[in-house]
Amino acid sequence: MGSRNVLVVGSGGREYALCLALERSSSVASVIVAPGSAGMSTRWKCYDIKTLDHTALLSLVDREKLDLVVNGPEAPVVEGLVDTLQQHGVAAYGPSAAAARLEASKVFSKKFSQRYGIPTAPFQVFTNPTAARTYVRRLDRAPVIKANGLCAGKGVVVSESIEHALSAVDAILERRAFGDAGAAIVIEERIAGEEMSIQVMCDGERMLVLPSAQDHKRLGDGDEGANTGGMGAYSPVPLMTKALEEKVRKQILEPTIKGMQEEGQPFRGTLFAGLMITPKGDPYLLEFNVRFGDPEVQATLPLLEGDFAEACYQCAKGELQPDVLRIADKHALCVVLASHGYPGSVRTGDRILGIKDAEAVPGVTVIHAGTRKIEDEIVTGGGRVLNVVGVADTLQEARDRAYEACGKISFEGMHYRK
Ligand code: AMP
Ligand code: GLY
Repeated sequence: MGSRNVLVVGSGGREYALCLALERSSSVASVIVAPGSAGMSTRWKCYDIKTLDHTALLSLVDREKLDLVVNGPEAPVVEGLVDTLQQHGVAAYGPSAAAARLEASKVFSKKFSQRYGIPTAPFQVFTNPTAARTYVRRLDRAPVIKANGLCAGKGVVVSESIEHALSAVDAILERRAFGDAGAAIVIEERIAGEEMSIQVMCDGERMLVLPSAQDHKRLGDGDEGANTGGMGAYSPVPLMTKALEEKVRKQILEPTIKGMQEEGQPFRGTLFAGLMITPKGDPYLLEFNVRFGDPEVQATLPLLEGDFAEACYQCAKGELQPDVLRIADKHALCVVLASHGYPGSVRTGDRILGIKDAEAVPGVTVIHAGTRKIEDEIVTGGGRVLNVVGVADTLQEARDRAYEACGKISFEGMHYRK
């Protein structure tokens, strides 16, 4: 066992998966979480501290003599958690607030992409609703409207018609449906193709490219129904050939790392590039996130061999050795089990049966995303309740394993994509 004590910041399925990967790392002695969840508290010590309470997190780090902090969600880093920790000499995995603008401001990331020739949809920025409406009326095709700031994944409207686009402009810019996050909008061309993402761990200068992943945002099979936070993911994506990955590296990832460095805001932490691959096979950048994807990372981490905690530490210190992790020749698939009512108003408190049986399926891990513990029972506690991950030598087998395990779990109102 190693000597490193690690804190994970966050509470969802992504953070549960991060805890598992850190715990597997040979450099790690202990893992704790803030705030964590009921499901996490059955395995790791959880501290009831809000992710935006940086002062309390810092004193936890001091008190527990922690050696590394790994951040889960975007909000804490956008609000400067990593800056605070690093200023106090704590190794923290994640970007500075300035570097986190790649996600926190669509205007920043679009203009940045333009400055460095990164392929992204042609766009215009508006703060004036009248000017935005005039622009939209002159378009031949329905555009994509994006609120500038963080909107919990709801600030993008892929419009179906010019009328629809106009109503999105009104909602975001005029009526401020997302508050100040909608004080500016990006209006961009809609790109057709296949969507996927790639996550890279960076130290400001070097990067370690993780296997590609594809998530499934719509609630129902056949990509029908409401948009969700993500109903499942798999990794790697067969469409991501070596040649395509090379293009993504050369055209998107490397210019980004280099550009941020040149602008004096080196990017450390996870850069998540949401990509559209056109029918011709050219990658376009749709968005950046500055943290691991949820549920993408649940399907990516099981493919990594080596000391994940060490990789995070090296990134935090600006001394990444990209061979610290190897990518196994395996496949992983993650299915989200959602609760009654998700993604609308969800019912919680339904008793969950069969987790142990599911975990007994070879190659399967059950990750808690939104569960609660009532006495000795695990019950539903959120919209996305469990993530069932199957790992195997082939994608088909990973899928079979995950679904065999899903079949063993039950709770009232449970639903998932097939
Ligand atoms: P974003 O948060 O910017 O990734 O946008 C959310 C979703 O909107 C993406 O995952 C895509 O499905 C879609 N999207 C965003 N931008 C475009 C675009 N330019 N063309 C087509 N779809 C887009
Ligand atoms: N699953 C998409 C995201 O984490 O942003």
